[in-house]
Amino acid sequence: MTTVLAIETSCDETAVAVVKNRQVCSSIINSQISIHRQYGGVVPEVASRQHLEIVNQAIALALDSAQIDWDTIDGVAATCAPGLVGALLVGLSAAKTLAIVQQKPFLGVHHLEGHIYANYLSEPSLEPPFLSLLVSGGHTSLIYVKDCGVYETLGETRDDAAGEAFDKVARLLHLGYPGGPAIDKLAQTGNPQAFNLPEGKVSKPGGGYHPYDSSFSGLKTAVLRLVQHLEKDSGALPVPDVAASFQETVARSLTKRAIACALDYGLSTIAVGGGVAANSTLRKHLQAAAAERKVRVLFPPLKFCTDNAAMIGCAAADHLNRGHTSPLTLGVESRLALKDVMHLYETKD
Ligand code: KG4
Ligand code: ZN
Repeated sequence: MTTVLAIETSCDETAVAVVKNRQVCSSIINSQISIHRQYGGVVPEVASRQHLEIVNQAIALALDSAQIDWDTIDGVAATCAPGLVGALLVGLSAAKTLAIVQQKPFLGVHHLEGHIYANYLSEPSLEPPFLSLLVSGGHTSLIYVKDCGVYETLGETRDDAAGEAFDKVARLLHLGYPGGPAIDKLAQTGNPQAFNLPEGKVSKPGGGYHPYDSSFSGLKTAVLRLVQHLEKDSGALPVPDVAASFQETVARSLTKRAIACALDYGLSTIAVGGGVAANSTLRKHLQAAAAERKVRVLFPPLKFCTDNAAMIGCAAADHLNRGHTSPLTLGVESRLALKDVMHLYETKD
């Protein structure tokens, strides 16, 4: 069993976990949402300072609740890309320092690879190949998972990410930050068929539409126009109906693309990851469509859908088991394509 201490500070969660291969020994998640809410979104400089203030405490707590000492830890990992540069630097520097002091291997982890690995935490028997639908605040991708570190992106968003669309529409409806959970809650009391909103399509150069790519900026603009129109004409805004109709459109669009992609590539499992994987309508639609087409669909438990360090530790343990470690000179990157994930590692023969 490979045991890893992992740190995740790519955005607004300061998270530390101890993971034994696919088993979580402890997972500490300190959300900064209440701090950023007053600004209507994440303020990068505020996020970095907050990570700095609590990261040491979170590390001590993770070690303590795992009841593990340094003798049994085989490696130290941190998210190094993609994300907010200042925020990433806090976790990466802490991990490197611990690796040096405790003389353990160090690993940088790609945040999206972590979201893919969240599925192994709840489904330890899962093995590639499978299709991963990654839907977070910064990404909307369909990824062919071939092996540890071997990924092919088959579809992505051409503009806003799904989570970003939820956050922007929530702002339009004055629901605050983060938008996803607020829209999801309100949509429960609304009529998803109340308004017919356009599902964004991406044109192909030779004609037709790209079957797996999505686009959410047109949908966001359609919601803006609808809100303006309703406010002008009737004065009252049926917020639950708008929220439910928007959520329905996003869920249908993602479900259609994920199912088509899995069937076309002959992949019998779709593993969902990222904050939007917590969405109740997406879960319902994807589960129903997958059952109809005899495709297995996996959603991690809610605590492993949004950002956490257990998923980072799980990915790091897999890399470490294969002899992959990162040089201590590794830096952070605000962007890094998933196909380049092996650039983070040196392989010991
Ligand atoms: O994966 P994540 O925690 O952070 C990133 O890596 O971006 O995802 C955060 C995103 C936010 O945009 C948030 O609004 C969205 O996930 N989200 C949801 C739900 N819970 C979180 N979106 C829709 N429905 C939810 N229940
Ligand atoms: Zn994330």
